[in-house]
Amino acid sequence: MADTLPAVPDSDSADRHAQANALLGTTGPARGKLGSADSERANRRWWDADADQYHQTHADFLGVDSPGGEFVWCPEGLHEGDMHFLGDVVGKRVLEIGCGSAPCSRWLAGAGAHPVGLDISMGMLARGVAAMDRGGPRVPLVQAGAEALPFADESFDLACSAFGGVPFVADSALVMREVARVLKPGGRWVFSVNHPMRWIFLDDPGEAGLVATVSYFDRTPYIEVDADGTPTYAEHHRTIGDRVREIVAAGLTLVDIVEPDWPEWLDREWGQWSPLRGEIFPGTAIFVAEKR
Ligand SMILES: C[S@@+](CC[C@H](N)C(=O)[O-])C[C@H]1O[C@@H](n2cnc3c(N)ncnc32)[C@H](O)[C@@H]1O
Repeated sequence: MADTLPAVPDSDSADRHAQANALLGTTGPARGKLGSADSERANRRWWDADADQYHQTHADFLGVDSPGGEFVWCPEGLHEGDMHFLGDVVGKRVLEIGCGSAPCSRWLAGAGAHPVGLDISMGMLARGVAAMDRGGPRVPLVQAGAEALPFADESFDLACSAFGGVPFVADSALVMREVARVLKPGGRWVFSVNHPMRWIFLDDPGEAGLVATVSYFDRTPYIEVDADGTPTYAEHHRTIGDRVREIVAAGLTLVDIVEPDWPEWLDREWGQWSPLRGEIFPGTAIFVAEKR
């Protein structure tokens, strides 16, 4: 899950990303237009560079190293085993987009599905291969971008993504069309992303993250750059309305938008997600759509 999206990076976030920033020579944030190829290049390099620290921080919560994986949708801790957003998965072919180290796909395999995990970053996928080498279900992993899915039309029963790909691509409408293409009729597509309203706040889990600083309507992507101005990270904002329109324009039917409450049992912070903020407004939006 993205734990950045800082209009101004806070010190915790900067520390959490120190390794990737040093490897990539990131000098700071920028705002400006960025197309699909440049976004994909930046994010492939970013997630390769950040894979170690991401897992040091989050592998435990995500169940990356539990033998059967886990399917956690968001920092609020919603688990597919409780939520059943995907419905019955037994025997179903499932595409997971932006699978990272694939704990969700491995959990789906253990639940009787036939998942394929796709991700742009070899560093993230390699962490999944290492986890599978220690035991548990093995799932096929594919390195590719979410805007050009290397699969035949109508080849999956279900598609899912837990903060994978969708917030990072320049053309998320194209991702919706690609998913609609590879899904069979009757198939379901469920994806979680940063709740669009989070865009307007500083990426800070504390009091500073309660103050609106950026326009909700400003779709200019958040970018980080190196000393030459080459993007090293990119994240693209869509409003709730944008997301609904992109789903509908792809020929899909929107079934639900889930905005998870912050659970009472959870006192863990995840980047900009915190009990303080979660009590007041949502951090995650989960879109449930179907191809009818
Ligand atoms: C926040 S991580 C989430 C990973 C995993 N779903 C999880 O819950 O840990 C975002 C993932 O999206 C992947 N990603 C970013 N841009 C992508 C793109 N254009 N196509 C496919 N995957 C992408 C990253 O490599 C990274 O593994």
